[in-house]
Amino acid sequence: MNNILLATDFVDLRDRFRAATGQAIPALPPGPLPASPAQLFQQLGGGDVPEVVVIDERSGTEAALELASRLNAECPGIAVVLASDRAAELGLAAMRAGVSDIVSTESDEDEIRHALDRADRAARQRTRVGPGDRDDSRTGSRSTRGRVISVVSPKGGVGKTTIAANLAVGLARAEPHSTVLVDLDLQFGDVSTALNLAPEHTIVDVVQGAAARDSMVLKTFLTQHESGLTVVCGPHSPVEADLVGVDELTHLLQTLAAEFRFVVIDTAPAITDHVLAALDLTNDLVLVTSMDVPGVRGLRKEMDILRDLGMAFERRHVVVNLADPHSGLTRSDVEATLGTGVDLVLPRSRGAAVSINQGVPLLQSDVRDPAAKKLRRLVDRFAPAPKKEPRPSREKAGSRFGGRHRLQRKGAQ
Ligand SMILES: Nc1ncnc2c1ncn2[C@@H]1O[C@H](COP(=O)(O)OP(=O)(O)OP(=O)(O)O)[C@@H](O)[C@H]1O
Ligand SMILES: [Mg+2]
Repeated sequence: MNNILLATDFVDLRDRFRAATGQAIPALPPGPLPASPAQLFQQLGGGDVPEVVVIDERSGTEAALELASRLNAECPGIAVVLASDRAAELGLAAMRAGVSDIVSTESDEDEIRHALDRADRAARQRTRVGPGDRDDSRTGSRSTRGRVISVVSPKGGVGKTTIAANLAVGLARAEPHSTVLVDLDLQFGDVSTALNLAPEHTIVDVVQGAAARDSMVLKTFLTQHESGLTVVCGPHSPVEADLVGVDELTHLLQTLAAEFRFVVIDTAPAITDHVLAALDLTNDLVLVTSMDVPGVRGLRKEMDILRDLGMAFERRHVVVNLADPHSGLTRSDVEATLGTGVDLVLPRSRGAAVSINQGVPLLQSDVRDPAAKKLRRLVDRFAPAPKKEPRPSREKAGSRFGGRHRLQRKGAQ
């Protein structure tokens, strides 16, 4: 018999389950049922993650069905058995909540054993069927590692969070459930503000306990954004930053890369141990600078340091943000100082400034804005939009104006 967890305050029911299985089955502490799978795992502390959860409906019908329904939706590896004497009345609601079996609270040991066997089979079957590129493990992990994209800059206020949030939202919209955004500015991160989220759990909760040991549990602690993006929000308070160890962070990022196609990391304006740990796992480095001399020189120093540390990345994307034609600096000045080409220039835009105050990233909608247009190009570097078939009439128009048009566009990214 696999791991079972009892959520019942009734001692006689616990004793019968224990007698039926011959095991010391763990039970949740007495009190109200947890409101979510994440709360359930928190109450479980260091205990094993269950494959079958038995919920006593006498603790509250609504709470029991709600918990069953959320376990069904969020934890594919867990089957729920409802202990209830109102099977006829609640059957339909229980089925809708994904309950795999209902046992009477008066059931004898044989009936309990059979119900647990059926639940066990149900749990195994559910983990074998999975969408798309999932394999058949109980966590539904992807078989290939996702791309880790880190957004860095030595300076504050240059647009790291704006760029990371928009890139992540753009990728999530292009490919639903593909992307997780991690706020690695552990002291003053503001990803949740940029996305208008009020997270129940933060990075502090996912680097410890059951979430750190089991990726199915981990997913129940993550925050969902309306765009389809998943988010690991920064700590509620700067003092909690110390609760995130570097090794634990590495483990978290590795797990996320196994679960998601894209892991986008927003960073603090400094090369901290945490940022270095993230860079060790990074495939794509997005280097951001504002269009001013201190910003560009700072970025050059950061690039030199990363090179001296022997850090190599599969791809680098240099982004100049807050570009202003009257700044006295040109794109070639920036390239000369950096000693490398600039991949994207984002103009200073009113829309970008307003969007962070409203908590709605530009790429959450199809807004027309000069910065949004460039941010879409950044998304395209990772998840190219499908090419539209050119219409014949457009092609003709293109050949009439094409020469000048193309010249203007060249290098204007
Ligand atoms: N292209 C842009 N046009 C106008 N405003 C922008 C643009 N990019 C960013 N901003 C604004 O600049 C401010 C700083 O941006 P953001 O928070 O993204 O920077 P950051 O590098 O993450 O800062 P920190 O290092 O402090 O976390 C925000 O108010 C944001 O709205
Ligand atoms: Mg920031």
